[in-house]
Amino acid sequence: MAGHKSLLLVSILVCICLCGSTVVAARELGDAAAMAERHERWMAQHGRVYKDSAEKAYRLEVFRANVAFIESFNAGDHTFWLGVNQFTDLTNDEFRAMKTNKGIVKQDGVVRVPTGFKYSNVSADALPASVDWRTKGAVTPIKNQGQCGSCWAFSAVAATEGIVKLSTGKLVSLSEQELVDCDVHGVDQGCMGGWMDDAFKFIIKNGGLTTEANYPYTGQDGQCKSSKAANVAATIKGYEDVPANDESALMKAVAHQPVSVVVDGGDIIFQSYAGGVMTGACGTEMDHGITAIGYGETSNGTKYWLLKNSWGTTWGEKGFLRMEKDISDKRGMCGLAMIPSYPTE
Ligand SMILES: *[C@@H]1O[C@H](CO)[C@@H](O)[C@H](O)[C@H]1NC(C)=O
Ligand SMILES: *[C@@H]1O[C@H](CO)[C@@H](O)[C@H](O)[C@H]1NC(C)=O
Repeated sequence: MAGHKSLLLVSILVCICLCGSTVVAARELGDAAAMAERHERWMAQHGRVYKDSAEKAYRLEVFRANVAFIESFNAGDHTFWLGVNQFTDLTNDEFRAMKTNKGIVKQDGVVRVPTGFKYSNVSADALPASVDWRTKGAVTPIKNQGQCGSCWAFSAVAATEGIVKLSTGKLVSLSEQELVDCDVHGVDQGCMGGWMDDAFKFIIKNGGLTTEANYPYTGQDGQCKSSKAANVAATIKGYEDVPANDESALMKAVAHQPVSVVVDGGDIIFQSYAGGVMTGACGTEMDHGITAIGYGETSNGTKYWLLKNSWGTTWGEKGFLRMEKDISDKRGMCGLAMIPSYPTE
């Protein structure tokens, strides 16, 4: 009798285990199918097409790994969160190596000509506690550089749009494509990358920039349409560099106008940033130009820079981002205080 009983128990246990693993296997199959479906929907949303089924299978694996990373990051205690966006089928190595969505030309050996800094005598105590140039109508809607290394043009244009609004009262969306096609000065080379100070120099030399509407963005290198470029809508008189590695100097400048900054935009937290104040470790491989359009402090007392990116509205806080301000590293979060500059009227 005792033997029968234990046999019965064993077979019940075997059944529970078998049934259990069948359930787990079925759930895993279901998860895999759900992830493949999610990837499929993501492909449609971002217009992504792969060259063959092997590439698609590989990209699904990368997508799955990124989603797992994003979910585990978000389950932790952070001041910011990550999310699925147009870069979720790229490994971070691929994203970092990809120059097309960024576009700062490597500055090794390039000597910055010293400029003045008109805000040097501004008293730090006199600065407002928070600034958001969007609320003053000095920031155009988020744009998208696409698969072109033209961040430098977007950053220079956003800073120019800002100072033009502040000096003329008019916000005009200006042409990045004109810079991509026509500005072959200094290190600027269209979709292969460039440098904001050289873009400012071009704008000054050209007598200004035309409008976005007149010379729309194509996301590709093209012949300079000089008749369109001649139809100038706004101009600047000069540009200045903010003293390097000095967030308080950067604050003085940003309190007065939007400022172009260069950051390491290849970091994993940059790739999947979805909102909140970016804090913690980040690199200083300066490869991406964006625009500081304000600063502030959260209710928790975390100070931040408010920045405008050029990766569309599916990235970050509807295309904007916040990064921690006044960190112990003088170079600033992701190097943002290393080489900022702004146009002058
Ligand atoms: C900030 O405050 C919010 C709620 O007020 C809280 O959920 C969050 O964890 C806080 N973050 C930090 C870094 O303290
Ligand atoms: C700052 O103040 C000093 C001393 O008064 C003056 O010499 C200098 O020109 C000022 N700089 C600017 C940029 O106004």
